[in-house]
Amino acid sequence: MKPVTLSRRNFLQSGLMSLALLPVPAIALSPSQSRRIDDLIAKMTIEEKAGQLSMFPGANRSAAADAINPATVSGSKEQQAEQVRQGQIGSLFNGAGLEWHREMQEVAVKQSRLGIPILFAADIIHGFRTIYPIPIAEAASFDTDLAQRTARAAAIEGTNEGFAWTFAPMVDISRDARWGRSTEGAGEDVLLGRHFAAARVKGFQGDKGLTAPDSLMATVKHFAAYGAAEAGLDYNTVDVSERTLYETYFPPFQAGLDAGAPTVMAAFNEISGVPAHANSWLMKDILRKKWGFKGLIISDYTGDLELVDHGFAKDEREAAKLAFLAGVDMSMTSGLYLKYLPDLVKSGEVPEELVDISVRYVLEMKEKLGLFEDPFNRLKAKKPITAPTNRKLSHEAALRSVVMLKNENKLLPLPTSGKKIALIGPTIDRQTDQNGSWVIWGRPADTTPLQDVIRKSMKNPADLLTAKGSDIEKPLEGGIAEAVKAAEAADIVVLVIGEGERMAGESKSRTEIIVPPPQQELAEAVAKTGKPIVVVLKNGRAMALSGAVADASSILVTWFLGTESSAAISDLLFGKASPSGRLPCSFPHVSGQSPYYYDHKPTGRPVRDATPDIEYRARFREVLNTAAYPFGHGLTYGEIEYGDVDVGGGQLPANGNITVKATVTNKGSHEALEVAQLYIHDRYASITRPVRQLKGYQLVTLKPGESKTVTFSLKREDLLFVGQKNEWTVEPGTFDVWISPSAQAGKAAQFELLG
Ligand code: BGC
Repeated sequence: MKPVTLSRRNFLQSGLMSLALLPVPAIALSPSQSRRIDDLIAKMTIEEKAGQLSMFPGANRSAAADAINPATVSGSKEQQAEQVRQGQIGSLFNGAGLEWHREMQEVAVKQSRLGIPILFAADIIHGFRTIYPIPIAEAASFDTDLAQRTARAAAIEGTNEGFAWTFAPMVDISRDARWGRSTEGAGEDVLLGRHFAAARVKGFQGDKGLTAPDSLMATVKHFAAYGAAEAGLDYNTVDVSERTLYETYFPPFQAGLDAGAPTVMAAFNEISGVPAHANSWLMKDILRKKWGFKGLIISDYTGDLELVDHGFAKDEREAAKLAFLAGVDMSMTSGLYLKYLPDLVKSGEVPEELVDISVRYVLEMKEKLGLFEDPFNRLKAKKPITAPTNRKLSHEAALRSVVMLKNENKLLPLPTSGKKIALIGPTIDRQTDQNGSWVIWGRPADTTPLQDVIRKSMKNPADLLTAKGSDIEKPLEGGIAEAVKAAEAADIVVLVIGEGERMAGESKSRTEIIVPPPQQELAEAVAKTGKPIVVVLKNGRAMALSGAVADASSILVTWFLGTESSAAISDLLFGKASPSGRLPCSFPHVSGQSPYYYDHKPTGRPVRDATPDIEYRARFREVLNTAAYPFGHGLTYGEIEYGDVDVGGGQLPANGNITVKATVTNKGSHEALEVAQLYIHDRYASITRPVRQLKGYQLVTLKPGESKTVTFSLKREDLLFVGQKNEWTVEPGTFDVWISPSAQAGKAAQFELLG
């Protein structure tokens, strides 16, 4: 090997300084497995090593996969097979078909020089063939057990097709609803983000270990702060403080890793001038050194190549070098490692020892997944991909994801007879716009148009009138007139409006988080008929509602619910089930408040009351900086009342805990699933603290007339924050505490944290 010379920049970015501190990369393999890896590494040429560090999109892929990963160059199936034979490809993703997976594995195992099996990966985000609600919707359930079960079911379907690795869960906190990828995470809150990250990782991987053929290796992505893109513009610059990274953006990653995720995907964005794909502070100092991560770091798609467009790398070759030295072990799609790593090693710019460490991570994953033991174990023709139980689970998840924002005069639930209903909206007759983004294997044909299900739910099908009224983003000729006619002939209007599934997801940033103007116009026209309106909102993010939409008697937030979307919406509309979801993201009054999130800081000039025309205070001329519908909000068909918060003696001793209680009562006539939420506010500290922070929640079922006491226990660790020296700390003092139905409700009690 040639001697290694590194410039200061490369030295720092390579993380060599800290190399001595890195634990030996290992994830508990048996001695024979470790020996196999050592032997292979000893035998591999640098080209073969670069091949193991390269992943490409499967040449055999569907149009749906192409739509999600555009501009993909992967050659023909034959060319790709030849590359596998030459040891130039270690992993493939988003390819189609068990049969093809098997063919590729045959080539890798039987025809390549070293016979190293291929690792098949995929974006299995919220279901495989059976589609569950988009992740932000499912987070509205506040039910991590549900999230774990849907991830498990998705993993079983995905592994039946031969996949062993998913690029999920996305654990990015999203606080700016203009960002289209809000869809893919668990919303704005850190506690919820941590819980859902862990649940989804556990669900994908199962509890029998990664070797189990139905275990799908999870990836926490995108490291880091991808959701903090300026103006909510996807891929845009991020400039957040280190403290905010520790307090807000990192914790869900830590939770996902603690739950056992063995892989991390880098983020497309830069942070304070250094793109995440070349950020050794993120990957080496934080991930590897501070958190002791021993798994694999993969680029996000062409994120390594994009260092050139970021203006960080001079050319492709330097991009490969910077990404690799900063800590990206595997390059996805760009082919840069395959093309440049051998030469970078030969020229001495990249130490081969570092390449060996990354190769070891890859081979360890393959060992862990049992691919060396039996490369075809996961590729056997098994049961059919879907199981009827998964559809049932999808139905359950869909029911639990819907959030009822308002329900004036108890318009909902609707009667199934005796009233004429006008169902109006651009998607009511469609099988698309139900699954949401990131669906490659799910099929619109597996869903049912909403109007069909509603018609079936009604005693007299003739009582249902339908009209599209508008297209999603364009007017429909004569549409409004037709819709108004239907509304006039009906007693109640169900207006299904909002975003189409192509309006939320990767690269789907919006300047205004509003109902598209043609549909808003439709709503205004229909409202003029004076008929009571139920809005069934379709959305992949938090929205700012206005005019006739905001003024509707009832509003159901129905997101994109997946395969069972229509059936679940119908069940909720007609009261076969009661809404129980809570907003995992605040709905602001207007788009201009973005980014709006509930746990913002108080500022030095808070608005202490709702005085409308107050000046020189932190408010907008048009609106108070509050939410129209806050984080945590969601109504049920019950009527829930909260009693005062009881903090006992009101003291939290340094090494003890404090019990916080409240009584929750259902005064209504329907059973309800309530989500009681515990918030705190640290009144003064050496670092300013948010106005409220969620510290716990409990799901409580309440029969009509029933009361239950919800009890939470808080300890010192629950009150930690990142102090002036960027270390977790806590300071004695006064805390407000709420047990409330949302982040903007309830009456606080106080307790003292003793020193
Ligand atoms: C996305 C990732 C995804 C990858 C592979 C990228 O565009 O940002 O989240 O896993 O594509 O499909």
